[in-house]
Amino acid sequence: MTERNAAPDQPAICDYEGSTYRVDFWEGKGRDYEDAVERAALRRLLPRHARRYVDFGAGFGRLINEAARYDHVVVLDYSRTMLQDAQARLGRDPRYTYVAADLYRLPFAPNTFDAGILCRVIHHLEDAPAALRQIRGCFAPGGTFVLEFANKLNLKAIARYVLRRQTWSPFDHAPVEFVRLNFDFHPAYIHDALRGAGFAPRRRLGVSWLRLGLLKRALPLGVLVALDRLLQPLGSAAPLAPSLFVQCLAPGAAAPLAPAEAMFRCPQCGHTPLARQGDALPCPACGARWPVRDGIHDFKEPLAP
Ligand SMILES: C[S@@+](CC[C@H](N)C(=O)[O-])C[C@H]1O[C@@H](n2cnc3c(N)ncnc32)[C@H](O)[C@@H]1O
Repeated sequence: MTERNAAPDQPAICDYEGSTYRVDFWEGKGRDYEDAVERAALRRLLPRHARRYVDFGAGFGRLINEAARYDHVVVLDYSRTMLQDAQARLGRDPRYTYVAADLYRLPFAPNTFDAGILCRVIHHLEDAPAALRQIRGCFAPGGTFVLEFANKLNLKAIARYVLRRQTWSPFDHAPVEFVRLNFDFHPAYIHDALRGAGFAPRRRLGVSWLRLGLLKRALPLGVLVALDRLLQPLGSAAPLAPSLFVQCLAPGAAAPLAPAEAMFRCPQCGHTPLARQGDALPCPACGARWPVRDGIHDFKEPLAP
């Protein structure tokens, strides 16, 4: 992964373009437990029905099948190669819309989504509150957003800190950047950021409690997953697991979802709607033309005039 600045006034991006994340991190890498318990948490927190769902920072689409019951699914990522990988795995089903865009400059109109997730992504964001505000801006009142974040207040970090094997305090609310563009967050910081963005946090689950090499080798996968499922509700009162999932409601008076032809907004000037003309979405306000290439709506850079 490389560091990229989409614009001089924007936060840096952890760019996965060309990355082999799927094979390097997931496939055959002993993370079946993490994958299974994250899915279990999502099944508990996502709504039964939704008309338009979005996976922000979907990567290669690992978790998209958790949204199979929804009418329409938007697969968003900054990396075009990640989206191509997702397309190759999921196909060109018309229920899926693939979008290349930056979480700091989302290309969606208000009231576009009634469900969505941000999983294993916020740890790459140096301005997490700004991205959460963008996300809230495209959720309809009554919509459900599920956020996963890497929790700095986890049992292992507390033990290491107490034993003086780690310099940063897990009790301090400020995010810790342990590697460039990799952050762990305190639950209180995330709670405040969600509220500041206009979300109402509801249920919180602790996930991956048993993420220890020894335990993962000693116990069969089914037992690990069953135990984690039992422990997950503890994440509300005792948020000490390495990963926390927060279910949030977008409050406000009910409003209809934006129709499909009016869901895009120009990330450059904010104009909405954008009507497709051929292989592009031209913005009538600022003149930017956003390409649609090989099934990917690309809002990273406008076409040259
Ligand atoms: C660790 S992967 C997680 C992928 C997927 N959510 C999962 O759980 O398998 C992080 C993803 O976030 C995306 N990402 C990072 N920064 C982003 C940004 N500013 N805007 C959009 N996507 C971003 C990366 O391209 C990458 O695909």
